[in-house]
Amino acid sequence: MTQKRNILCIGAGYVGGPTMAVIAHKCPQYRVTVVDVNARRIGQWNSERLPIYEPGLDDLIRATRGKNLFFSTDIAGGIRDNDIIFVSVNTPTKSYGEGAGMAADLQFWEATARQILQYAESPKIVVEKSTLPVKTALALERILGNGGHEVRFDVLSNPEFMAEGSAIRDLEEPDRVLIGSRGTPGGLAARQTLVDLYAHWVPREKIVTSNIWSSELSKLVSNAFLAQRISSINAVSALCEATEADVSEVARAVGMDSRVGPKFLNASVGFGGSCFKKDILNLVYLCRRYGLEEVADYWEGVVRINNYQLARFTRTMLRAMFNTLTGKKICLLGFAFKANTGDTRESPAIYIARNLLAERAVVVVSDPQALANAAADLKDADGQVSFVADPYEATAGCHAVAVMTEWDLYRELDFERIFETMLKPAFIFDGRNVLDHRRCFEIGFNVYPIGKPPLTHFS
Ligand code: UDX
Ligand code: ADP
Repeated sequence: MTQKRNILCIGAGYVGGPTMAVIAHKCPQYRVTVVDVNARRIGQWNSERLPIYEPGLDDLIRATRGKNLFFSTDIAGGIRDNDIIFVSVNTPTKSYGEGAGMAADLQFWEATARQILQYAESPKIVVEKSTLPVKTALALERILGNGGHEVRFDVLSNPEFMAEGSAIRDLEEPDRVLIGSRGTPGGLAARQTLVDLYAHWVPREKIVTSNIWSSELSKLVSNAFLAQRISSINAVSALCEATEADVSEVARAVGMDSRVGPKFLNASVGFGGSCFKKDILNLVYLCRRYGLEEVADYWEGVVRINNYQLARFTRTMLRAMFNTLTGKKICLLGFAFKANTGDTRESPAIYIARNLLAERAVVVVSDPQALANAAADLKDADGQVSFVADPYEATAGCHAVAVMTEWDLYRELDFERIFETMLKPAFIFDGRNVLDHRRCFEIGFNVYPIGKPPLTHFS
């Protein structure tokens, strides 16, 4: 019989909340507490309307909350009463001082380390869940080792690989769980404790252990590889548009090589989300710090292509619509950075909206989950932007529609009805290649996909 354990997670965000919900659900004999400095957020986790949208999350929370999953603002009590402490506070890109715009901002993370040191009265296993620069565990050990008291701390790295929109499935059936530790007896014992936790639902062969620096680095490199695939296919999409090749056909042919694989080869307006850009810039900064300029330049190219793709999308709109967008009403279908989430962090839609506003277009934003976040992202642009949940209402009277997010519901829309209510000539710019382009063209739209020849009614 497994020993009952008390688990704490500091940081009730997109990572901490879903991860702890799954642990609580899979390990009913463990008591899991999630704490956060943000009382409003904790209030939301304790309410009927959770602070984040994630398929399957509501059911999990309903099944566990108040039984073995608790949300609280009592950080000190949480640290005192729990022996495994996951740290999943935010580590955004630094916006000031040295490394601004590149390095990870570790202020929240360090504040948490100091709180752990201040309140711990018994041995703790401290688990890094947040994505961190390599060697952060060393800094953590140094802070925790300076308390002047006898409490023992073991630091582990256990990066989270789940993706938003499929977080619950990714957590329940992960490709792998990675646990990095020191090779000391204490480090190995702590690692085993975490292996035992995951072994409640993850097949043992998928729980991978490594040294702690490999684990920290693997997280950054995993995201860099994934983003690199998207920038690769997006770079090819530009070439397809120049040569009348079709990027979906190219991606299919390339992806059928089992060494490459078919996933993550969808050309798009650009990648977004809180991780890819941040983690690559963090990797680039690390490389530069170690004097590896060529390696840094190589990875920085992934972000450069993404910026290029975003700029190219707006340029296509401008050129297609007779080189002026001034006063034209353009509907963005979708604002979330991907489907099945309300998250808009680094969403391509933010950049496109800002580019369109700079061209003095009038922007209408529609999204089934992300309108509140969209309004916050564009709060400085009032007057020129409106937010309309219903896609039919949002597109009415527009000159153009631009698909920003691959929500299933957009595939199902009645485009004949939409065409009727739009100004002519009516344009569709499909930033996700999710619509039936031929059908939209036949209805009367001028259609501009990504990486495919446009279908237009102009001679
Ligand atoms: C990513 C990683 O996938 C995950 O493993 C890590 O833990 C966190 O970062 P996430 O950012 O939530 O997850 O979403 P992801 O599905 O990776 O999508 C990132 C961006 O890439 C989205 O904007 C998405 O639309 C875009 N994308 C993805 C493409 O443009 N084309 C693709 O083929 C795949
Ligand atoms: P992620 O996507 O990495 O989960 P989020 O921003 O969604 O990032 O969540 C991080 C959470 O960590 C936020 O809710 C924030 O309030 C919380 N947080 C930051 N610093 C601390 C701290 N010192 N103690 C507790 N919670 C913190």
